[in-house]
Amino acid sequence: MPDLKKIGAAIYGWVNERLDLEPMLEHARAKTVPVHKHTFWYYWGGISLCLFLVQVVTGILLMIYYRPGPDSYASVREITYEIHFGWLIRSLHAWAANLMVAAVFIHMFSVFFMKAYQKPREFGWWTGLALLGVCMVFGFSGYLLPMDELSFFATKVGLSIPGVMPGAEPVIAALVRAGPEVNDFTVQRFFALHVVVLPLLFIPLLAFHLFLVQKHGNAVPPSERLKPEAQRKSIPFFPNFALKDLAVWLIVVNVLALLAAFFPWQLGPQADLLKPAPIGIHPEWYFMNQFELLKVIGRFVPGVAGEVAGIGLFTAGMVLWALIPLYDTETAGGRRARRATYFGLFVLLSMLALTVYGYFDLK
Ligand code: HEM
Repeated sequence: MPDLKKIGAAIYGWVNERLDLEPMLEHARAKTVPVHKHTFWYYWGGISLCLFLVQVVTGILLMIYYRPGPDSYASVREITYEIHFGWLIRSLHAWAANLMVAAVFIHMFSVFFMKAYQKPREFGWWTGLALLGVCMVFGFSGYLLPMDELSFFATKVGLSIPGVMPGAEPVIAALVRAGPEVNDFTVQRFFALHVVVLPLLFIPLLAFHLFLVQKHGNAVPPSERLKPEAQRKSIPFFPNFALKDLAVWLIVVNVLALLAAFFPWQLGPQADLLKPAPIGIHPEWYFMNQFELLKVIGRFVPGVAGEVAGIGLFTAGMVLWALIPLYDTETAGGRRARRATYFGLFVLLSMLALTVYGYFDLK
């Protein structure tokens, strides 16, 4: 039996002599991760990253057979029913997309309640929000690509919402939809967005986000900050926390594989552009809260005024959310800190309530 440890050490020695890896590893070893009762939440950024990597690999495999444009439905049907393991790759991609959005939301709220947006981590918060925005557009653009009935009508409804803002409809028609209706050219554009434009935005943003984490280390939550320095515990990031991260990734990949294999992603009937929308058309779950907010406001303020008010309210909420590091600063304490926490709780609970209510409110 060959001594794997010896072989590994020899390979490492050979590479290290040429690339001088030691300073880099020293840097990784110098970073520590705080250990306390909320450490569990530090895994969620890494889980989001793991799922993004799954998206890259499965997305490239799907691209081998997917044909955007008039053939998009036929090509997804082939991937699902004819190409060996095509159904599995498609199912992994669709499930991982949903799990990734969920992981990013959990990561965002845990960062929020740990007040990890405070100095010096403001740029971590803002790059994170930009990543979340890109993630949502990834989801929205990917959803249309199979061009089945559900994806077609959900996209149609989704694009009509910002279209009510004054002056927005002609811009959406010309730039996004390529015409007055969602059609094959829209699919072509969404595909370019999905596989070229969004990755070009996402990857540098992610690199900067991760650089900031490496630079500042993990924030400790307010309850831990009160403890004297001597009582705080931490472990080295490399190799200790990195190994724990990998163990969590293994669990994530297993959960994903089980979901993809036992609940394969379905393909509905082909979209018929001339048919009226079927009953109960709704967006993906992560857009449901915005969708329901507009619906509820529309009951009190009917017509375009209600939709504009709803979009305005939502935008104002997002601006406040983005500006939270400037309000609840590390020196503000007291009343501001409490208000920020209540604001976070209000946002979290209203998003959950609107999402659940949205599913009961489908007609
Ligand atoms: C695809 C999206 C994202 C990826 C892959 C990602 C990845 C990561 C990773 C690996 C970490 C270090 C581990 C951890 O603390 O969890 C981290 C930390 C952080 N992330 Fe993200 N993140 C994403 C989105 C977001 C979002 C949406 C926000 C907030 C709006 C955000 C804000 C932060 C902040 C402030 C930290 C530092 C946390 C601390 O110091 O403890 N990230 N992110």
